[in-house]
Amino acid sequence: MTSSRLGVGFIGSGFNARFHIRSWIGVREADVRGVWSPNHTHAEEAAALARSLRVGDARAFTSIEEMIAAPEIDCIWLCSPNHTRLDCMEQITRAIESGKGKLIGIACEKPLARNAAEARRMVELVERSGLLHGYLENQVFTPGVQRGRALIWARGAALTGRPYLARAAEEHSGPHMPWFWQGELQGGGVLNDMMCHSVEVARFMLTEPGKPRASIRPVSVSAQIASLKWSRPEYVELLKEMMGPAVDYADKPSEDFARATVNYEDENGRPVIVEATTSWSYVGAGLRLSMELLGPEYSLSLNSLDSGPKLFFSRRVKGEAGEDLVEKQNAEQGLMPVVASEAAEYGYEGENRYFVECFADGKQPEENFYDGLEVTQLLMTAYMSAEQKREIEFKPSDLELFVPAVARGAWKG
Ligand SMILES: NC(=O)c1ccc[n+]([C@@H]2O[C@H](COP(=O)([O-])OP(=O)(O)OC[C@H]3O[C@@H](n4cnc5c(N)ncnc54)[C@H](O)[C@@H]3O)[C@@H](O)[C@H]2O)c1
Repeated sequence: MTSSRLGVGFIGSGFNARFHIRSWIGVREADVRGVWSPNHTHAEEAAALARSLRVGDARAFTSIEEMIAAPEIDCIWLCSPNHTRLDCMEQITRAIESGKGKLIGIACEKPLARNAAEARRMVELVERSGLLHGYLENQVFTPGVQRGRALIWARGAALTGRPYLARAAEEHSGPHMPWFWQGELQGGGVLNDMMCHSVEVARFMLTEPGKPRASIRPVSVSAQIASLKWSRPEYVELLKEMMGPAVDYADKPSEDFARATVNYEDENGRPVIVEATTSWSYVGAGLRLSMELLGPEYSLSLNSLDSGPKLFFSRRVKGEAGEDLVEKQNAEQGLMPVVASEAAEYGYEGENRYFVECFADGKQPEENFYDGLEVTQLLMTAYMSAEQKREIEFKPSDLELFVPAVARGAWKG
């Protein structure tokens, strides 16, 4: 471990970057020192948030290049929208190649890119830059998953055999910004946006601690996508009202439901299965993450809405709509769950602590751009399967050329 604290610079100052900054209270070996965003006021606000939380003497920068060149910046957290990801990575690589700064690592938000070709390019650029790299898959770091997986493998699997089935679901009532809803910008619909989490956390739970990713091998994918809610005429109108006229689901819908089965083989050639479900058409108290891990004599189950305190507000409590109880909150009355420390419960704190420790030690994180690439390849195979309505062997030969119909604006639901 090096003696001095690392300085982290954020690219992006939106919802996700602010979640990371809030999580930094649980990160010991680094401070938040910079934010860049095309909207300078937003960058200033995010830097002020970091200062007010005392997680770093952060300032707003006027360009990516300027932030990389700053002596106090050692690592970058790339948290910009999906369609800007590659361009940001190109700028980072160019700055490093022209001798700017002293970066040692980069951590990139999910999904690594919008399709397999872009994800491959992200990997090429990070290899060229010589940086250590992390893939910010927070669900792998949720305390329940980390602890539950360790116990399941140490007790149940050690005595009765490996787990064979993992289920993971992420569901809420829809994203907060227009670009998420626009297939061409985001790369797809809910499958691309949220199944990246579910396939990876399920794969992680099924992988024996200490063994490499390759110890289970994906062999085929079958998937289905649908627009269940947001292309109904009344919801097309509501969506336009909320997100602006460019989000027109009568013309260019994205899927708001997706499910996939990823068939793996373990080291002995035995089947191991991942079932993933994701939805923007789930209306409950708020964001719901659920995971299960099943083996011959044991099981694990987790539901993010079941944990922590619950509040009850009678019908006389007519407060304003908010997101103060849980992310993507849908109501303010009745019996409501509270996720007391969302940044910790959703895994942000754990992932940031882990990536910072790796970078401080000069070590390549175990969850890195190669994992992000394989996740993208699995998601693209899922889109292929949904479009062709058949199970597809992994990896299909034309994967690198494939762009989902949703991302081409050509899907009609
Ligand atoms: N891990 C998770 O659970 C999770 C949750 C939310 C978002 N995300 C991911 O984080 C990323 C950002 O999502 P968000 O919710 O913060 O979106 P957002 O729209 O709330 O914020 C995006 C931020 O990026 C900035 N930006 C816009 N154009 C840019 C450009 N050309 N270059 C750099 N920055 C630019 C915006 O000004 C804004 O600050 C996305 O890739 C998303 O998939 C992950």
